Amino acid sequence: MASKITSSSTAEYFSKNLQQVGFSSGTKAVLTTLKEAVDNSLDACEDAEILPEVAVIIEKKGQGNQKNMDMIRIEVSDNGPGIDPDDLPRVYGEYLASSKFGRGRCSRGQQGIGISAATTWAQITNARGVKVTTKTSKMRTALQAVIEVDIKKNQGVFREKKNIDWDRPHGTTVEFFIDGRVQLQGEGGLLTYLMGTSIVNPHMTLKYKINDEEEVVLERVSNEKIQIPEAVPPHPHTMKLGEFLHHTHLFGKVNLDNFLKKGFSRVNEGTFKDLIAAGLKKPWLNESLTSLDEGKLKTIYTSLQNAKLMAPSTRSVLSIGEAALSKSINRMGEVDFFSVVSRKPAICDAKPVVVEVAIARLKDSKQDADDQVTVLRFANRVPLQFDKAACAIAKALESVNWRTYGLAQPKNSIPLGPYVIAVSVVSPFIKFKNASKETIDASDELVEELRLALIQAGQRLSRHINREKRAEDLEHKIRHIEQFGPILIEGIGRITNAPESRLKKAREGLMKLLGRDADHAQNALDLAVEKHAAQEARRKKKEGQEANDETEDAKEVEA
Ligand SMILES: Nc1ncnc2c1ncn2[C@@H]1O[C@H](COP(=O)(O)OP(=O)(O)OP(=O)(O)O)[C@@H](O)[C@H]1O
Ligand SMILES: [Mg+2]
Repeated sequence: MASKITSSSTAEYFSKNLQQVGFSSGTKAVLTTLKEAVDNSLDACEDAEILPEVAVIIEKKGQGNQKNMDMIRIEVSDNGPGIDPDDLPRVYGEYLASSKFGRGRCSRGQQGIGISAATTWAQITNARGVKVTTKTSKMRTALQAVIEVDIKKNQGVFREKKNIDWDRPHGTTVEFFIDGRVQLQGEGGLLTYLMGTSIVNPHMTLKYKINDEEEVVLERVSNEKIQIPEAVPPHPHTMKLGEFLHHTHLFGKVNLDNFLKKGFSRVNEGTFKDLIAAGLKKPWLNESLTSLDEGKLKTIYTSLQNAKLMAPSTRSVLSIGEAALSKSINRMGEVDFFSVVSRKPAICDAKPVVVEVAIARLKDSKQDADDQVTVLRFANRVPLQFDKAACAIAKALESVNWRTYGLAQPKNSIPLGPYVIAVSVVSPFIKFKNASKETIDASDELVEELRLALIQAGQRLSRHINREKRAEDLEHKIRHIEQFGPILIEGIGRITNAPESRLKKAREGLMKLLGRDADHAQNALDLAVEKHAAQEARRKKKEGQEANDETEDAKEVEA
């Protein structure tokens, strides 16, 4: 008997496979829900050119519905543009509904799965979807509604809906009640995520309150609105055959020559002769796309792959910048030392990419010298927190010989020491290894670009470590002379029968030589205090002048 073949809706698929999109445990469920909401808030603010203010509340509200789970309330508010009420069901209750598909911009969201998966998790574990309050600048009152996913139809539905007065001109607040667990520290910790997010988003003001802990406010350190570069059309060499065929469907009834020129970057009249040499037949250029059969389209695809085309432009990538990243690092706590490297945009696997690295040592670091350094990974300014080993960033870190730069490192692994190494990859086309966007695919070209950035940062670190080492060595030697010098003076005094007054002079001379006499030390201290005050005054004056000027090139700062 033939078995009955059925098909399921996208929502049905995801509701059964939520572990694939970040909901595989209680702690991950809380982190993923928070992350999807914050990503959306930041993307929406950037799209609307608003400096983001994001407020997060996470609290345990008692026992969860499942065994070993707590009931967790997660609230995320933003001052973004708000969402048109008609769009609410699609945004929160429909899978694969996104404003960002393949548009070639460096946004955090790309797929249209994130927030609908969080709604589904809330629904599955607590029988209630997401509560959204939103207001656009056109609306007089805000709309407050509960939205759920109709899993059979992959459709969002309103459960409750009312208009309310809201003191904000525009923005969105979402509230989820879910089964989960709160983990603060460590790789998958909420604080790790919040700290990471603030490092790579210097223009964001973030407030967060978790359980009974005091509210933390991280003010923005950059007032520059993020200018997201215009998207560029895809480069043919980044496309697989299926994607190419899909791309032709999007264009419909245009002639092939126009499709090639408008649909891709780096294809123009001038490249047509190369395409023809590579197999494309000239008369096809004047045919309508819809009349070209699959065989011809495959030949066109192959000729595009074989033709020599200019590498894609790097115009569409966005970098955080050394100055902003430097200031952001200082939000992490008291920093002992840091170095920042921001590479120029490069092309890896035919896609534009910018790699940036920051290495910092925190004063109150709880890490020991033989703990691995803390690695913070970012893709399009979103922290990546799981499955580190398989990620391009970890592979690059392990391939660098950190011993040359003064760090301890077991063979082919992450270096050791009380350091934080933050690595950011920004690209309109980041290739993730999984739908939950946790690891970046480790292609050879990307790993090499990452390596170069790490080596540059490592060189700066080693200069600092060497200086520290030299100062330490000198202190050690002085202490030695300080200890044995007087004994030597006594000995010589005894042999030469020198009077006590002579010996006293010799001892004082020695201390002066070593810079340890009280007067000398006092003078040096006074001079240092004076210099420091003058420097502070200069810095304050400069800061006043450059209050909003982010262009300064802070390459290496030592506290
Ligand atoms: N806080 C918000 N303010 C304004 N618009 C929003 C907000 N949250 C979501 N949106 C809109 O809803 C769309 C869908 O969001 P969703 O998270 O499902 O997809 P995405 O962010 O495009 O991709 P991903 O699945 O990778 O997160 C977004 O593309 C955006 O247009
Ligand atoms: Mg999203």
